Amino acid sequence: KYVSIFKGPTTRVWKVTGEVLKGDKTAITNDKESYLAPTIRLHKGQKVRIYLKNELPSATILHWHGLHVPAKMDGNPMYAIDNGETFVYEFEILNRAGTYWYHAHTHNLTAKHVYSGLAGFFIVSDDEEQALKLPRGEFDVPLVIQDRNFDQQNQLKYDGGMMQRMHGFLGEQILVNGRPEFKLPVETRAYRMRLLNGSNSRIYKLAWDDGTPIKVIATDGGLLERAETLPYLTLAPAERREIWVDFSGKEIGTELTLRSLEFSSGGMGMMGGMGGGMRGGRGGGMMGGMGGGQSHAGEEFTVLKVRVTKKSSSNDVLPKRLSKIPALSVADAENPHSPRRITLSMRHMSALLNGRSYKMNDIRQDEVVPVNTVQLMEFDNGFHGMGGMGMMGMSMPHPMHLHGEQFQVLKREVRSKSGKGYTSVSEGFLDKGWKDTVLVMPGEKVTILKPFNDYTGLFMYHCHNLEHEDMGMMRDLLVK
Ligand code: C2O
Ligand code: CU
Ligand code: CU
Repeated sequence: KYVSIFKGPTTRVWKVTGEVLKGDKTAITNDKESYLAPTIRLHKGQKVRIYLKNELPSATILHWHGLHVPAKMDGNPMYAIDNGETFVYEFEILNRAGTYWYHAHTHNLTAKHVYSGLAGFFIVSDDEEQALKLPRGEFDVPLVIQDRNFDQQNQLKYDGGMMQRMHGFLGEQILVNGRPEFKLPVETRAYRMRLLNGSNSRIYKLAWDDGTPIKVIATDGGLLERAETLPYLTLAPAERREIWVDFSGKEIGTELTLRSLEFSSGGMGMMGGMGGGMRGGRGGGMMGGMGGGQSHAGEEFTVLKVRVTKKSSSNDVLPKRLSKIPALSVADAENPHSPRRITLSMRHMSALLNGRSYKMNDIRQDEVVPVNTVQLMEFDNGFHGMGGMGMMGMSMPHPMHLHGEQFQVLKREVRSKSGKGYTSVSEGFLDKGWKDTVLVMPGEKVTILKPFNDYTGLFMYHCHNLEHEDMGMMRDLLVK
């Protein structure tokens, strides 16, 4: 299969298109009404060649988020190509079925490029999943949620100033699949909805307005063993959740609203309330507009609406068992007694990992990982000591992401005193199954087990708040 991704002529809103040069034409679909990159659909075991042709005025490179690919194919910023150049990706799909995605990963420009539309779904299927008879075709709906700001000409607006970099970009307008005020018409049957938080920094606390609990069937790295029911979903940047929603038995004309509920992002008190408020938010605009269009984290607003429009002639039943996931244990780790500790901190206008900022080809001793091992790792966001809350520092949630293979979350520990932000989102965490991004709240420590199999070379770990990433909250691991 050959997939080609071309960047169209440079307008203020970039248009990304793709075409299949050879192979199954359904492997790539362009959504003409969206500014986002096309959706790529492939099957486990397929070998692909993907051409990235850069027609942007700046360098760029694409990363396949969540996919297990060789280091040279992983979109490390050192492989960025200039305008007019083409990067040829070649890899085999080793991942199990799941909702993955791809996006720009250019040094210092990731936030701006992703914001402008250089991101898309990468959906993988496999035989195990296909045997399950989950909703397919139009009943399997990928939904990417993003927040954006627009200027008077209705063009995307992004300033990238220092305050925005520290706190992360927060937009006033919610887009779903690139559209404002998104409304999904549905039939009276079950749906599989693939939710991706494609926002630069906004965390969502998603819930149905009629109080229906949320049934989750998959997370970042594919299907769970069985569906899990949660009162709401906490979805941090780059995270995915697939949900099972059954509209059978609903009256035609029924409308359901998916909202993001209020929460406290903890430790960020100073910024709370400074924003102009979200469109569609409760009390939007009442906060006093000091932020000049910058809304704040944790406010409540509408994300999308679903409307039952048609009687369905078919339905699917949620299988009791979805998959079998081999549980990693501490005993599998090469370092069972000495976890690799990564401290997250923000001070002196920078965002740091173990006190360090990103630098190309700057591998320290504690960043070397033996290949074909499982590593015990912990992300410490002010759990020990003063953490991110120093005199010049601030404490924020950080969605931590590792390239390469998916990992498992072993445990979360939180400092009792900083529980306020934590408890406002923690019932929406889903740490089962395979993950590639995990939200670490202020005062929290998250321990994971991460395999590093097959491929040697540089694989990144970073905060997926894209403004933090561009501020340097990113490092390489050298697998060898
Ligand atoms: Cu989705 Cu290195 O990122
Ligand atoms: Cu990634
Ligand atoms: Cu961060």
